[in-house]
Amino acid sequence: MFYPTFRARRIRGKEVFRNMVRETALSTNDLIYPMFSAFGKGIRKEISSMPGIYQQSIENIVAEAQEAYELGVPAVILFGIPETKDAVGSDAYAEHGIIQETIRALKKEVPKLAVITDVCMCEYTDHGHCGIIKDGDVDNDETLELLAKEALSHAQAGADMVAPSDMMDGRVMAIREVLDNNGYKHIPVMSYAVKYASGYYGPFREAAESTPQFGDRRSYQMDPANRLEAVREAQMDVEEGADIIMVKPGLPYLDVVREMRNEFNLPVAVYNVSGEYSMIKAAGKMGWIDEERVIMETMMSFKRAGADLILTYHAMEVARLLHKGYEAGRAGRCGCP
Ligand code: PBG
Ligand code: ZN
Repeated sequence: MFYPTFRARRIRGKEVFRNMVRETALSTNDLIYPMFSAFGKGIRKEISSMPGIYQQSIENIVAEAQEAYELGVPAVILFGIPETKDAVGSDAYAEHGIIQETIRALKKEVPKLAVITDVCMCEYTDHGHCGIIKDGDVDNDETLELLAKEALSHAQAGADMVAPSDMMDGRVMAIREVLDNNGYKHIPVMSYAVKYASGYYGPFREAAESTPQFGDRRSYQMDPANRLEAVREAQMDVEEGADIIMVKPGLPYLDVVREMRNEFNLPVAVYNVSGEYSMIKAAGKMGWIDEERVIMETMMSFKRAGADLILTYHAMEVARLLHKGYEAGRAGRCGCP
């Protein structure tokens, strides 16, 4: 393809052509909105590093989830801030724990909205780690039992899907087994298959009050330098029965998203994490970037890298922009009927 026989600009010359040859589309059906459910009543507390994102008590979660549903966002993923924390994260699997009560309220009030739950211990343990501590480190196999209990209690409360984010080995199998043995064969597992030990989680730890009280998460989350290890991690989860595999964070790991897309034939999700959100919000506030444009370009980058689903704090904004018919040359079409 040589100039002047070939001219790449011919097909870019008209809006109608650009629309015809666009390779990637973004739809509201691709979006999953993360929410932080807090104990109490009348609570709606903005996360200082995440403008527009709140810790909310259940009735406010329900109201915002209703809004998300009406905008065409098909699913939310829930994180819980319990009243009390302890060494074994009891509230994570309590029948009337914060998440369990939030699930019940959502399934009652917004029944068609899919409720996904984050399955992990770090929001519920007083030490802030993702499992049970033994000899100064998280004990893998003891943690598995609690994760299975937690996932089961979410399913019993009515969760539509569970998403383990702890990075213990064997958790997908442990969760699949307990769900299958208790009448929840139909509940899918979306595995945080590839989760890096990342500085981009900083604002989330403020939002979920889940900062580790000693050490860090490097003995269970992945080394940002590794790509082949990501394939091994995902391979394990696929063999253990994961229904969707996730890569997290998103933007700094688009190569890994593409690797998943090429390597596996399961749906791939990407988590556009808190730090990625905060950076766009901060630069937008300063007037340094066109915020809407950068948000939509970021979403498109996930789709182009091969993601089917995007977990993003921008979900409500993105849905609104899609409905407004955000200029097709920058974004896609909305997924509404
Ligand atoms: C809990 C969990 C974390 C995130 C999702 N689930 C934080 C962590 O591992 O420290 C991060 C999400 C975000 O930064 O938006 N294991
Ligand atoms: Zn955790």
